[in-house]
Amino acid sequence: MKDAVLKLKKEKNALILAHYYAPLEIWELADFVGDSLELSRKAAAAKEDLIVFCGVRFMAESAKLLNPTKKVLLPVADAGCPMADMITAEKLAELKKLHPEAAVVCYVNSSAAVKALSDICCTSSNAVKVVSSLEADEIIFVPDRNLGAHVAKHNPQKKFHFIDGYCPIHNACTVKDLEKAKALHPKALVACHPECGEGAPALSDYVGSTTGILDFCRKSEGKEFIIATELEIVLALQKELPEKTFYPAKEGFLCEDMKKNTVKALFDALKEETGEILLPPEVLTSAARALERMINL
Ligand code: 13P
Ligand code: SF4
Repeated sequence: MKDAVLKLKKEKNALILAHYYAPLEIWELADFVGDSLELSRKAAAAKEDLIVFCGVRFMAESAKLLNPTKKVLLPVADAGCPMADMITAEKLAELKKLHPEAAVVCYVNSSAAVKALSDICCTSSNAVKVVSSLEADEIIFVPDRNLGAHVAKHNPQKKFHFIDGYCPIHNACTVKDLEKAKALHPKALVACHPECGEGAPALSDYVGSTTGILDFCRKSEGKEFIIATELEIVLALQKELPEKTFYPAKEGFLCEDMKKNTVKALFDALKEETGEILLPPEVLTSAARALERMINL
């Protein structure tokens, strides 16, 4: 089936993009594997006719927004992101009414309708930079309150308004989990995604996006690492760097939506061109503007 995917990919002039949390067998087939910022950049620059996005819905939607003349496919229709569903356009509109002076920054883990109401988007790798670049003293930051807290710590002069949004998988990684992992592996360095639970980043040696975590482990002279993000990163690091040892920060650190991306689903989508991303025209332009502002920055 892997050979069949590669054959179809060539025939259809398709670009296969995969997020790092997709299973390793998908990494083998993808033209590019990356974090959400790198994938947005690749999608924006794609020259192929078809973009097949092995990730979750908001990622494929971002690809469509950044390169609207391309056909973008999400192989698994129900591969979503529970955090993205925690903020709706209606809720954000209410928040904007309450804080009319505030600039609106939305994490890319959000719907196109939410992006359309935002001034600028950010990802976990550029959130601090995006917020620092804004002149506004007041910021509405949605939906992730954990990433928001990380950004606020680096922008103490600004006032923030958050909602109670979080990634159920990362938020479940708590201070207690990290203390336990550190007690078991006292020599290990801790690398943590900013979506992790309150207080977890403060216990870590490195806090950053998925790519940031991979680079930290590659460059560090440390020999053991506790990885506070999705399990696929632990597996990928262990495969790439067998001379080092990687421990998951806790049991069950799995994004089930990302794991829906099987080779069979990719094959079916490519063959039948199913799962096309279609966005309402009324949100397309404004949502693209917020994303493009981020890319340009
Ligand atoms: P990255 O920005 O690190 O790719 O994270 C996206 C995400 O969904 C993490 O849960
Ligand atoms: Fe969404 Fe969390 Fe999965 Fe990332 S890991 S896609 S934030 S549910």
